[in-house]
Amino acid sequence: MRVIAIDGPAGSGKSTVAKALAARLNLDYLDTGAMYRAVAFAAIQKQIRPSEIEEITEIAKSLDLELTEESCVVNGVDATTEIRGPEVTSLVSQVATMPEVRIEMVKRQRAWAETRNGGVMEGRDIGSVVFPDAMLKIYLTASEEVRAARRAAEVKEGDVAIVAADIERRDAVDTQRAASPLVEAEDAIVVDTSAMTLQQVVDHVIGLIP
Ligand code: DC
Repeated sequence: MRVIAIDGPAGSGKSTVAKALAARLNLDYLDTGAMYRAVAFAAIQKQIRPSEIEEITEIAKSLDLELTEESCVVNGVDATTEIRGPEVTSLVSQVATMPEVRIEMVKRQRAWAETRNGGVMEGRDIGSVVFPDAMLKIYLTASEEVRAARRAAEVKEGDVAIVAADIERRDAVDTQRAASPLVEAEDAIVVDTSAMTLQQVVDHVIGLIP
């Protein structure tokens, strides 16, 4: 199976790089962060509080999710825009700390790759947990300033300081949680994209494929 794992913190360029890589290599692409966002979206729709872990776990298990590169439909509702919105973004890292939710998402992620015999998968724990035998593991990173500026441009939120604070908060939750925290897999290749263009990153990563 040809799995390329792209992990790293928020704003490191994972999505842009992973999508471009998938297109260049003619592989399918999976945004695993969108899966956790979909669970958060469904919880908000059902007006479930973040403390209701059992209910959120049930939501994850029964989630009807249609995720493509362009769209995200959750339990029959188009959530493409909402999963990137502030409400979902503020809840998602908490949802991603829930071990039972992670077990369900990881199961789905493995099934996704198995039916395609691989693909480019982006997330936080792809190389460390989901596919420890991935063909290539990349840990993308960038300076805090660059990551905040990129996210601010992406969400068209003018205030870089607010975005920077949110990224810092999410990084802290993602790296400090007990269940599959964001870590560099031992055999991951770290790529600092701070001073690189997308083209340079993609060319570099393609050059690393064994
Ligand atoms: O990449 P993103 O910002 O869309 O991720 C949303 C959240 O989900 C973020 O808090 C980290 C978490 N996540 C995770 O825990 N494991 C993954 N494989 C992908 C994302």
